Amino acid sequence: MPQLEASDFAQAVVARMADCSDDRFKQIMASLVKHAHAFIREVDLSPDEWMAGIQFLTATGQKCDERRQEFILLSDTLGVSMLVVALEQARGARALADQPGEKPTEATVQGPFFWPGAPKRELGDDIGEGHGEPTLYHGRVTDTFGKPVAHCELDVWSGDDEGFYDMQKGDQMQLRAQFRTDAQGNYRFWSIKPSFYPVPGDGPVGAMLEKMGRHLNRPGHMHMMLKAPGHARLVTHLFVKDSPYLESDAVFGVRNSLVVEFPKHQPGRAPDGREMTKPYYTAKYDFRLVPSA
Ligand code: BEZ
Ligand code: FE
Repeated sequence: MPQLEASDFAQAVVARMADCSDDRFKQIMASLVKHAHAFIREVDLSPDEWMAGIQFLTATGQKCDERRQEFILLSDTLGVSMLVVALEQARGARALADQPGEKPTEATVQGPFFWPGAPKRELGDDIGEGHGEPTLYHGRVTDTFGKPVAHCELDVWSGDDEGFYDMQKGDQMQLRAQFRTDAQGNYRFWSIKPSFYPVPGDGPVGAMLEKMGRHLNRPGHMHMMLKAPGHARLVTHLFVKDSPYLESDAVFGVRNSLVVEFPKHQPGRAPDGREMTKPYYTAKYDFRLVPSA
């Protein structure tokens, strides 16, 4: 009987998928097997190293529950999430290539702290509720042709002034809400100026990052998810321009077009008419959504 050698195993696995009827699944699995085998051969992986890898993935799964998603963190910190985001964005750009109009807003990672079902709030509401330095976020949502996107759903979430998300602290939602743009596509709400913070480091991914000689930090950012009928969903952030770690985000999520000035203002009447008794910041950003086909 002919015997398989090290260089043959990948092809043998691929050949066993001859009866697979899902072409895309087959393509993905064949490529995964080929690259995994090539990687193991390239680094000449020992059985102990392979077992360490299996134990790491087991621990990663065991760390997950309905609030903690260690696999997303692994994907994010290895740059895989941003690669998938970038490929999707490039696909969208190719589809729009022969159309007039502006470039759509760049997307970035969703991260593990999105919590569906945030409270619906009115435009202009304050969701910062004394957690940090007050900031007015405002701007407009249009499509790539400049047409306002009315009643666009805007989910926003951030960590607190100590760098913790509500989900890391307990059962109460805080610093997150859903808004809707008005008839002209305008949005405005108050929250805090987000500070830089570390991604969760108390699990296997934290141990991996430490062994890699990497830090855990993300620059200050506000998460935003925009959804409107007839438009592609956009998951993105606004990054604080003077924040540390813009150049070395632990999850590689920074896009230059998403870095925003947060000018500081003295107490007085804010642009939305609110009377401020302490200093505050503003962050203005206009979003452009891709019309769906
Ligand atoms: C976040 O920004 O919330 C985040 C993104 C990726 C990994 C961890 C946290
Ligand atoms: Fe975040």
